[in-house]
Amino acid sequence: MNAILGIESSCDETAAAVLIDGVLGSNVVASQEVHAQWGGVVPELASRAHQEHIVPVVQQALEQAGVSATDLSAIAFTRGPGLIGALLVGACFARSMAQALNIPLLAVDHVQAHVMAHFIRDGEDHHVPSFPFLNLTVSGGHTQLVLVRSPLEMEVIGSTLDDAAGEAFDKGAKVLGLPYPGGPLVERHAREGDPHRFKLPVPSITGLDFSFSGIKTAFMALVQRGEQAQPGFVEAQRADLCASLQNAIIDHLLAKVRRAIRDHDITQVGIAGGVAANAALAARLGELAQREGAILFVPKREYCTDNAAMIATAGQFLLEAGHLATLDTVPVPRLY
Ligand code: KG4
Ligand code: ZN
Repeated sequence: MNAILGIESSCDETAAAVLIDGVLGSNVVASQEVHAQWGGVVPELASRAHQEHIVPVVQQALEQAGVSATDLSAIAFTRGPGLIGALLVGACFARSMAQALNIPLLAVDHVQAHVMAHFIRDGEDHHVPSFPFLNLTVSGGHTQLVLVRSPLEMEVIGSTLDDAAGEAFDKGAKVLGLPYPGGPLVERHAREGDPHRFKLPVPSITGLDFSFSGIKTAFMALVQRGEQAQPGFVEAQRADLCASLQNAIIDHLLAKVRRAIRDHDITQVGIAGGVAANAALAARLGELAQREGAILFVPKREYCTDNAAMIATAGQFLLEAGHLATLDTVPVPRLY
């Protein structure tokens, strides 16, 4: 039996998963509720919560998969990018466990692991992209267009110059008084709203890079003006505000994906990362892909947001390629 334990601790989710002979045996995620009241992730609180969760989360992942620690063949952990204090918890835990069990250690790039979410095998049939394909990776910390040539060869051909797409959702939500993380709440309110009610600027960034700061600033000004002119504006217009914000973010993402498809003769497009859980984005990307003669791949929702199944899956590819980490591998907060 080949059993790989994956550990994720880069931000505000402590997660562990076990792959048994390439198939997911368990996938445990402990989300940290502590940040909601602060309107964003507080790094020090995240580190402390990871310390509390890491042992029970790993234990639960092993139990649910029906394996014991001594059955493990390798341990994969998130090396970065992420919050350094948070990464240290997972890295130290993984290193110590691999050393105690005398098994290989695999250091995984979190953003590349989001792309590997397409290849998570959980026993259910699903289509996977073949190489090469284009991936739009959109999370709370990253926004990238990636040419994926193989599990280990990814070329970033576009990235954000300021905020990430998830950050644009979260900051917009905060302005509306919605708790962190705001992305899923913006999506929920947007379902009831008119996406064309409020005009937000179209970013004028050339090439394949992204910029969300103009949308964010215009949205903040719109809300401030509205409240000044008519107290209770946000409350009354929440659905239209959310729908307009979501629409502006999606328009910008789609414009760059369309360009990348055309520039690079793409026939397969993937989407990954927390924002890929947004159904409106997936639907509009699906329409765009169809118009451009390409096929869209979207991982299951639980594999879009941070999880350890993607870390174990990325780790498996590293193991197969013989890319093992040494026991002095340290986490890195910034990889790009
Ligand atoms: O990948 P992820 O779990 O963590 C990072 O690596 O950053 O992504 C979290 C981000 C947050 O910004 C969250 O608001 C956003 O993904 N998100 C969404 C949705 N679900 C999660 N944004 C828009 N719509 C959603 N349904
Ligand atoms: Zn992530």
